[in-house]
Amino acid sequence: MKMKRKHIYLLGFMGCGKSTLGRKLAQALDMPFVDTDIMIEVKAGMSVTTIFAQLGETKFRELEKEILIDLAQNWEEDSVVALGGGTPAQIGAWPLLQASGTTVYVERTPEQLYNHVRFTNRRPVLQEVKQEELLGHIEKLLEKRVTNYLKADHIFNCKDEWGVDETIDHLVKLLKKSDEEN
Ligand code: S3P
Repeated sequence: MKMKRKHIYLLGFMGCGKSTLGRKLAQALDMPFVDTDIMIEVKAGMSVTTIFAQLGETKFRELEKEILIDLAQNWEEDSVVALGGGTPAQIGAWPLLQASGTTVYVERTPEQLYNHVRFTNRRPVLQEVKQEELLGHIEKLLEKRVTNYLKADHIFNCKDEWGVDETIDHLVKLLKKSDEEN
């Protein structure tokens, strides 16, 4: 019989800090860390930006779904997993996530997200958006996605005044408390 996976999935909008926090959280919990965008890049042999540009978003979403199935059903080690911002909005994602681990929504306000993404151009979903329209665009896209994000087991309200270490302390406490309760 296959054991149920016990991953810790970090999910949320682009720029909420899933990868940075995930890497640190994995260290704190002595677990492996996995970033689904990197897995997609390895599988496709090209960057996320190139996949969007050359193969299109539909192909990217197909690869994203395949990676999620692999992680949820076949992965050897329980890991901290940073999901892509769009992964929880995929059809069929939630049964896979719920069956294979604990989900944490890294919640931030549109303003915080805007401040985190405005100087980077490595996110194809936001690349074409003009700077002056970026905040409004984030608000709209977040509104569309938030019902999916809110399905998470935990809503982790992330404060900008916390540094990374303090954020990880809060996150570890939240996860330990939930372990004790279950
Ligand atoms: C996406 C988010 C990105 C990446 C891809 C699409 C999205 O990941 O998966 O560019 O649709 O929100 P991050 O959330 O890690 O930036």
